[in-house]
Amino acid sequence: MSKTADHERGRTGGSTAAIDASSTVHLSRRTVLRGAAGLAAVFALRQAGAVAPGPSVALAGAREDRIALAPGFSHDVVIRWGDPLFPGVPGLDSAAVARDGLLAMSPQVAAGQFGYNNDAVHYFPLDAGGSRGIVCVNHEFTNEELFLPGLERIEKADPSQIADYVRRNPQVVPLTQAMHGVSVTVIERDRQGRWRHSPGSRVARRVTAQTPCLLTGPARGHPLLRTASDPSGTTVLGTLNNCAGGQTPWGTFLTAEENVDHYFGNGAVVGSLDPALQEAHRRLPPRRAGIHGWEFVEPRFDLGREPRELLRFGWIVEIDPHDPRSPPRKRTALGRYKHECAATALTRDGRLAVYSGDDDRFEYLYKFVTRDRVHPRDRTADRDLLDHGTLLVARFDADGSGRWLPLVHGQGPLTDKHGFASQADVVLRARAAADLLGATPMDRPEDVAPDAATGRVYVALTGNEHRRANSTSGRYNGREIDLGPNAANPVGPNAFGHVVEIEEQDADCGAFEFGWRIFVAGGPEHHAGAFGSPDNLDLDADGNLWIVTDGSQPGGLNNGCHVVPTRGAERGRARHVMSAPLGAEVCGCKFVPDGKTLLLAIQHPGEGGSLAQPRSSWPDGPGHVPRPSLVALHLP
Ligand code: FEO
Ligand code: CA
Ligand code: CA
Repeated sequence: MSKTADHERGRTGGSTAAIDASSTVHLSRRTVLRGAAGLAAVFALRQAGAVAPGPSVALAGAREDRIALAPGFSHDVVIRWGDPLFPGVPGLDSAAVARDGLLAMSPQVAAGQFGYNNDAVHYFPLDAGGSRGIVCVNHEFTNEELFLPGLERIEKADPSQIADYVRRNPQVVPLTQAMHGVSVTVIERDRQGRWRHSPGSRVARRVTAQTPCLLTGPARGHPLLRTASDPSGTTVLGTLNNCAGGQTPWGTFLTAEENVDHYFGNGAVVGSLDPALQEAHRRLPPRRAGIHGWEFVEPRFDLGREPRELLRFGWIVEIDPHDPRSPPRKRTALGRYKHECAATALTRDGRLAVYSGDDDRFEYLYKFVTRDRVHPRDRTADRDLLDHGTLLVARFDADGSGRWLPLVHGQGPLTDKHGFASQADVVLRARAAADLLGATPMDRPEDVAPDAATGRVYVALTGNEHRRANSTSGRYNGREIDLGPNAANPVGPNAFGHVVEIEEQDADCGAFEFGWRIFVAGGPEHHAGAFGSPDNLDLDADGNLWIVTDGSQPGGLNNGCHVVPTRGAERGRARHVMSAPLGAEVCGCKFVPDGKTLLLAIQHPGEGGSLAQPRSSWPDGPGHVPRPSLVALHLP
């Protein structure tokens, strides 16, 4: 029994749901039935309009083009897209961009500035008080329609629009590539307590879609990773669609490559490739046309020209923020899929567990546990710790128990007979290996917040509009599955998502068994605590779960930030503390060590509009192009 299984009871919306804490591990037949009823009750309570109390953002503010805050909170805009990281680099002129667009911007200048669409934010203190530190920030993707003239929203546009645009303006490809990747820079708190950017530091660095990255671990050099420009299969140019992330105890940043298929075109050729390549692409199928049109300018993004390049993306990438000359390392031992995050926690015996969701509909939740222990006083000894360990995938059983299933070559079905000749094959085709083991298809696993002290792990499931109401067999992402509900994803369609709470056995993040329950569900009703589409997460020292959102919100409100206690009398009661500008999602969600500042990333303000028809001018104000920006949220 977990040491944390106590009096607490699962609850949402202020009413007690019948998810008994005793149903977490090794359930009896009787508690199985109570647990299953409890799952339905969680959703039923939300549907019934249970109300969460506490001061929240005023509803009017949550529909405006500004950051609206609950009473007692304040914020600083710390770094904006286009702010220079290095001396001599010009800053973005947001009024000029609003007027003329960005077609004339040099990619070299863009690669010296804070990139676009900030997502993960992780903080590495440089002083004992934590008032000055390195931030590593992901730049997930670009909304070209918001800064280039003559474009509509690209994700929804006819792919021929971006194809024509890129052929006429090929310079936009190196430009937008330079706006992707990662920024490493320093922020600090001034005498008034405000957070500000400190550009030009020794550690300042931009990683872009052209930065050489090393492949390490079991798939390094595998024939499926060899290309015309890299016949050794060891060095990749760039990291892409870096979504959430993580940080290690030895002070490195983990950045997760998510929707990497968006960057590659001509996917129809896969059907004519050799069988090994077809199989390698089966479960992460390429698109007919890339979203950004890069394939029309750079041949490696055209699957007809280079059918293996896409396989070199979709990994967890480790970056040492203290050494700007060290190459980013793609750690293949952690598997290839649409990684949302890389959330870390020490195991009881001092190894590192890395949790990662595969953010796609009906995909899985994974954990990687290192083979070796972390060296507490010698960070150089941990340099390649992530190259050796066990990759596992989660199965959530209907009785409230669960199991981490090892994705290990030679064990169970992961053998030659099923097309897995080595561990390299297993990590390259992690989704297919997880299928064979019977992993549970989830409603888009996003960020994970593990607590090493308690073994409790929170998993954001952002929603799944394709989940069917009833058991129905169907094809999805290259395999046949049941598209209907399962115990951990009990509602179809799942419009607003939910958060699952895992209790690792014996409170050990290295465990193979766990108990689980639905902690809180997104709700359709319009009340102070309702939220939808949970995305990034962090836990504070008091056990409150901070949730930021990306997608449908109850009442059509803007995305925002919510806090939900995980302990005590208020457990499960969500409170809305911050609302983002129009069109933005909220990312980051990382506390600095004093626990009084939460770093948030405001991503794609103004999405849904265009340069010609802007929806937002945040943060610079009317007449300025909207700028994705890093924000420091001060707690009361
Ligand atoms: Fe990039 Fe799953 O959010
Ligand atoms: Ca995300
Ligand atoms: Ca997101």
